[in-house]
Amino acid sequence: MAQILYFSLLVIALCSLSEGIQRRYHYININKTWTEAQRYCREKYTDLATVNNINDMNELKKTVNNKPMYVWIGLKRTDVYKWRWSLGDPVKYLNWETEPSNDTNNCAVMRNGKWHQQKCNDKLGFICYNDSSKSYIINTSNTTWSEAQSFCRQYHTDLISVRNQTDNQLIHNIINDHYTSVWIGLFRDWWEWSDNTDSAFRYWDSVQPDNQGGSEDCIVAKMTHEGKWHDISCSDSYTFVCHEVELILIQKNLSWTEAVRYCRENHVDLVSVDSQEIQLMVTEVLHQAWTAEVWLGLHYYCLMNLWIWVRGEVVCYQNWAPWVQIQLNHCSGEHRAGAVQSGGDHKWISLPRSQELNFICTRNKEN
Ligand SMILES: *[C@@H]1O[C@H](CO)[C@@H](O)[C@H](O)[C@H]1NC(C)=O
Ligand SMILES: *[C@@H]1O[C@H](CO)[C@@H](O)[C@H](O)[C@H]1NC(C)=O
Ligand SMILES: *[C@@H]1O[C@H](CO)[C@@H](O)[C@H](O)[C@H]1NC(C)=O
Ligand SMILES: *[C@@H]1O[C@H](CO)[C@@H](O)[C@H](O)[C@H]1NC(C)=O
Ligand SMILES: *[C@@H]1O[C@H](CO)[C@@H](O)[C@H](O)[C@H]1NC(C)=O
Repeated sequence: MAQILYFSLLVIALCSLSEGIQRRYHYININKTWTEAQRYCREKYTDLATVNNINDMNELKKTVNNKPMYVWIGLKRTDVYKWRWSLGDPVKYLNWETEPSNDTNNCAVMRNGKWHQQKCNDKLGFICYNDSSKSYIINTSNTTWSEAQSFCRQYHTDLISVRNQTDNQLIHNIINDHYTSVWIGLFRDWWEWSDNTDSAFRYWDSVQPDNQGGSEDCIVAKMTHEGKWHDISCSDSYTFVCHEVELILIQKNLSWTEAVRYCRENHVDLVSVDSQEIQLMVTEVLHQAWTAEVWLGLHYYCLMNLWIWVRGEVVCYQNWAPWVQIQLNHCSGEHRAGAVQSGGDHKWISLPRSQELNFICTRNKEN
């Protein structure tokens, strides 16, 4: 009894000490050109900031806290147009009626099961994809491509990605013959993230990018305009935002102990989800998982009757599935560890450590 009381007090003491451990974004209050800023971030952190979605953007704004007018982020113009999916998955499958040409038709529609280039400001119906219901939602209102994208991102997940012939046929069947052309999530632009990620999230201010004088190749977030993006000359000097820790989902099926070893050898460690913020970052990489659950750096320490993180911290933030028996009597059977569900509400569950699952490592600038 005394021992249990002692541990409870210890847990309370440790929890109140630990606060927001891994922050993704770092605001650097030094004026530098874009290239100098990139070098600085790569030396001290991981890279100049990448923004994957509106949650990231809000976090970035919080980090900068409105201090300057402009801050550099990691987006830069290249000299080639590249087709991308709005959802950010790599473009592997293509189904053009005719090879795209170098005109200004930078968005794509599906018509009779084939893809065609179209001016992004034309007004057409569109198809959203909803990841929580795994469904396609067709909308027949006449809408520009970016309005369609905003609508899909607000009420569903995003405009649809067509990943293979089966997908294409399915979507063709949904469209049926009712509509001549509908927007799909494919568009092209020439922006590239400093860390080479495929993020197709764009947060342009109105009439941006405008490439004034033909030399505005780098991007700032304008803090006086809700952090909206402007293109600007790379040789100007501004303060900037770096990002640091990232999570990487490893598509290998390993036991928990093997997963710990893999992360420590190749990256840093299995991920410790010690805040809501990290749980959200975990959720973002889970869509790449092949297994229904994914290992976390969470294990049951039988002697002390405690769940702890691999780094030795006690579990303060929790996201267990309500039905999971997380306490006691795990000592009798096989040793257990914690995993997160790759679908549904992404709750944590307890599994025997020998189960073979995908897993998430933390990585930092040394990798
Ligand atoms: C969309 O525009 C087309 C052609 O301009 C028109 O025929 C159609 O009725 C419009 N659809 C809706 C739902 O307003
Ligand atoms: C279809 O999209 C438009 C935006 O273009 C939106 O206003 C409308 O509510 C959507 N309709 C449905 C049924 O979701
Ligand atoms: C789409 O997903 C959202 C959550 O992102 C959910 O609230 C909504 O009910 C879903 N809509 C449909 C039509 O499945
Ligand atoms: C096509 O892609 C979808 C995901 O969009 C996947 O579920 C399906 O298994 C793939 N089909 C084939 C034949 O590759
Ligand atoms: C990992 O396991 C999943 C689910 O059991 C399976 O679909 C997948 O093919 C496996 N991957 C590898 C690389 O063995």
